[in-house]
This record gives sequence, C-alpha cells and structure tokens, in this order.
Amino acid sequence: MGVDEESLEEEDVVDPWTVESKSAAGVDYDKLIQRFGSTKIDDQLIARMQRATGRPVHHLLTRGVFFSHRDFEMILDRHESKRPFFLYTGRGPSSEAMHLGHLIPFIFTKWLQDTFDVPLVVQMTDDEKFLWKDLTLEETHRLAIENAKDIIAVGFDVNKTFIFADTDFVKDEFYRNVCRIWKCVTVNQENHIFGMTSADSVGKIAFPAIQAAPSFSSSFPQIFDGRADVPCLIPCAIDQDPYFRMTRDAAPRLGFAKPALIHSTFIPALQGAQTKMSGSQPESSIYLTDSADQIRDKIIKYAYSGGGATVEEHRKHGGNCKTDISFQYLSFFLEDDKKLEETRKAYASGEMLTGELKQQLIDVIQRIVAEHQQRRRVVTDEVVMQYMKPRPLNARMQ
Ligand code: TYM
Repeated sequence: MGVDEESLEEEDVVDPWTVESKSAAGVDYDKLIQRFGSTKIDDQLIARMQRATGRPVHHLLTRGVFFSHRDFEMILDRHESKRPFFLYTGRGPSSEAMHLGHLIPFIFTKWLQDTFDVPLVVQMTDDEKFLWKDLTLEETHRLAIENAKDIIAVGFDVNKTFIFADTDFVKDEFYRNVCRIWKCVTVNQENHIFGMTSADSVGKIAFPAIQAAPSFSSSFPQIFDGRADVPCLIPCAIDQDPYFRMTRDAAPRLGFAKPALIHSTFIPALQGAQTKMSGSQPESSIYLTDSADQIRDKIIKYAYSGGGATVEEHRKHGGNCKTDISFQYLSFFLEDDKKLEETRKAYASGEMLTGELKQQLIDVIQRIVAEHQQRRRVVTDEVVMQYMKPRPLNARMQ
C-alpha cells in the first residue's frame, strides 16, 4: 500500500452524518483544522476575548472544547467598536429526546448571548429530518416544538431570541435568500462538499441553502429592519462546518457578510472516543429525558474505562485520561477547574479507581439533567410560541 493510500485509510471521517476515528483517543482535531482550513483557538485569542468582554472566559473555551474558528477576530473587532452582530445556531429535530452532546453548543451559545448581549436565531430543520429520516413532516414539526422546549430550558432570553421551524418560516425574504443561494451553488460544488450523488433526492440537494440562509441578516427583516450587512457568529460542533464552507463561498457573490464560526469537538459515545454521542445510536448517549437511575446504569455499564485491567495494575500504572470516557465527560461538564485537575492527577496516578471516577461523573450528570428537566417542565407550548413569533428583538443596532 502506498503512503497516500495508507494515510487516506487512517483519516478520520467527520461530516454532518458521520463521525468516526480509528484512534481510541478519538478524532485528531489538529489534523481536522488543517483539512478544513479553519483556525485553531489559541491562548492569545482567549486572552483577547477576556480583555474584550471583561469577563472570565467559559470553561468550554479554556479547556479546548471550542477549539477552532473562522473569522472570530472579526466578531471581537465589531464588539470592541460597538458594531452589531448576531448569533445563529440550530437543531435537526429527529427525535423527542436530545442528548448531552446536543446541549454543548446551546450552553455555549447562551454564554455568548449573555456575554455579548446580542440577538440569537435558532433554526429547527424539520424539513432536513423529513428528507433524511423515515419521518413525516407532521412528526418532524412536532419534534421541532418539543426540542425547542429543551433549547428554551437552557435559559435563552426571550427578548433576544427567535426560534423558527423551517416549514413555518421559509418564505418572504428568507426564501428570496434561499433562491439567491441556489442560483450560485452548483450540484458539482455540493457533491464536492457533502459527497452527495445523483441518486440523492432533489430535496437533499436543495437543503444546504436552507441551512445557509439564516447566516444572512436580510433573511430576518423583522429583526434587522432590512439591514443586509450584520454578520453572524455560528457556534456548532465541527460536523456542521461543510454547510458553512458553502455559505462563506456564496456570501461575497451575493454581497453579504461571511458568517464567522466557532467550532466544538464532539462529546464521544459512551463506548469510546472513536465515534460521537449520536441520536441514531441510542446506547451511545445519555438523554436529557433519562432518569437518575438510567444515568447511573448507563455510566456504570457502558462508559469506556481508561483504567488498568486489575486494581493492582491500575494502582501501579494509573488510568489514561485521554481515552477514559468518564474523565472526558467531566471535562465537558464539571465546571470547577480545581476539582477537575485534582481528579485528573488522582486518576492518572492510580490513586483514584475507575469506580470512584464513574461515581463522580454520575453525581455531576444526574444533577445537570435533573436541573434541566426542572426548567423544561415549565416550558409550555405557549412559551414556545413566544419565542417563535417573528418580531423585533431587543438588539443593539447602532
Ligand atoms: P443536530 O441536531 O445534529 O445537532 C445540534 C447541534 O449539536 C451539535 N452536536 C454535538 N456537539 C457535541 N457533541 C456531540 N456528540 C454532538 N452531536 C451533535 C451539532 O454540531 C449541532 O451544533 N443540521 C443541523 C441543524 C442546524 C444547525 C444550524 C446546527 C441548522 N442550522 C446552525 C448548528 C448551526 C443538525 O441536524 O444538528
């Protein structure tokens, strides 16, 4: 086998549908940055962010969960010169229950909204899930409303947040932008970016423009009063980047600002970092609807351990925090830096056993999910309708 073939074979697969790595430590994110042509978030950028906002930076940034960006400096420039921008993110409503991985971009987006005090648009792609899954449009729209309740439960300010389902909102100015994008992207370009083939439905080929359109402020005249020049920042896991490579290509040709992006790594599957936590593999995931007992049972039963095969071996050689799923999850969800570092040291030295590490994770996740469930209980259909009403938002627009 030639060198090229070898390296091709070992390359991680990361796209909107698949995340797969051969390595137990998971996707090689540095290589991915090179392949995708994005920019690594370094200490300098984090320090600049802290200066620009005057606030401590979120642990998902300092720990490298949000690790890559496109044009994030431009967003900081705008913040510093008091020029507006907005946030855009989304969810594909394919199931009733969202999992912990889906929570990550929303937790971080809420922090960005609180920190920068800017409007947020959230796209629920019920059309996408109808096209890709064996679900009716009625069902994906119902799931969009149910998932919107989970998103609202993260704590977004109703005065600054607009949530929409595509099958309700794709019309008027939004649809005009979809047409403009359709006209300037060829099927060839899409095949190249998404790997679609002529056997795919026309709907699948048409869909990327619909995920691209919310990047442009002129798609939301209710919010931006017809302005076409307000750029957005898109927080998402890096699997969504292909959509926005296409969007950034099209933007200058349409006279629109390119969207900026900030990308996260994936919460790995319970079984190990070779794949991501994914709704299409239920046993890989902890859901926001899981009970305390289900959370405990899943972590005990499935969470891949980087510990030694026996207690003696573990005490002698210590655990491997890079492959241990419980430690990985703690680095996403345990906010206390000091406690995380103590755990890392204790586990890596063999002083802490896998069972103790798992118990620490169980406590953290049970608390986060229980608090989420409590906040979600009060989000009724009427509350969702308030977020879904097209309206001006309380936005800085100087
Ligand atoms: P969806 O519903 O697959 O995912 C919703 C968001 O969750 C991220 N994500 C994860 N993050 C960390 N760890 C994981 N294991 C994990 N799995 C999923 C996704 O990257 C995404 O940010 N087509 C989109 C919906 C969409 C969208 C957007 C997403 C429309 N417009 C703009 C982001 C930004 C989808 O099906 O996402």
